[in-house]
Amino acid sequence: MARRKKLYEGKAKILYEGPEPGTLVQYFKDDATAFNAQKKDVIEGKGVLNNRLSEFFMTGLTAIGVPNHFIKRLNMREQLIRQVEIVPLEVIVRNFAAGSMAKRLGLEEGTALPRPIVEFSYKDDALGDPLVPEEYIIAFGWASQQDLDDIVALALRVNDFMAGVMHGVGIKLIDFKIEIGRVWDGDFMRLIVADEISPDSCRLWDIETGRKLDKDVFRQDLGSLSDAYTEVAKRLGVLPTNVTHATKPTLIN
Ligand code: TMP
Repeated sequence: MARRKKLYEGKAKILYEGPEPGTLVQYFKDDATAFNAQKKDVIEGKGVLNNRLSEFFMTGLTAIGVPNHFIKRLNMREQLIRQVEIVPLEVIVRNFAAGSMAKRLGLEEGTALPRPIVEFSYKDDALGDPLVPEEYIIAFGWASQQDLDDIVALALRVNDFMAGVMHGVGIKLIDFKIEIGRVWDGDFMRLIVADEISPDSCRLWDIETGRKLDKDVFRQDLGSLSDAYTEVAKRLGVLPTNVTHATKPTLIN
């Protein structure tokens, strides 16, 4: 069998050449990293859960007309996606203060914001993905003003969808990060949601208890990350039927 070509390996995912031009296979690893990979671990089953969860969110976005890269899930850890040109920005939407915003502004985590706030970081690991104003983005040509208007509109639609879905299962969407890709139809360019949407890239708090159900569990050593992600998947009804933690055969006495 011909070995497929690895095109890119990131901290949590690998991209392989897809079966047809314009497609890629996105593989979800079990690796968890935080603080620009200064903290690392392998969380058994995380890749399986994120593959399912990203499928669930992207499929929902498609259903409400928000264009995204997802085509279909291939297996436990892989999905077929559209190849895009990634815009080198992390697009962050915040509903409540947390993380870097809470720190920067001295706000208590969980403080409601007056409206959803969209901000951009420049995707560059060596620089630690610095927060950048729109001026920089346009001046350096990472995106045009028109692109940014479209990206903000997309991000706010994703926010409304995600906040509503999560609210329905008793979870508050504090904030999240998405990435945007360009696809070309002849001379026309469209912007679509790409990368992944999973508890790796969101902050999710249980509405009743405030329990964190996202990657902050790993960042802040708050307990089992796979338990937290499994809880999110269970509530959304997307838990894989197979046992997610067993990656090797185990002896049953
Ligand atoms: P922040 O508060 O640390 O800036 O994070 C904002 C949101 O972006 C939060 O939901 C976590 C997510 N995020 C990523 O997906 N990748 C990253 O590298 C960072 C720093 C944050």
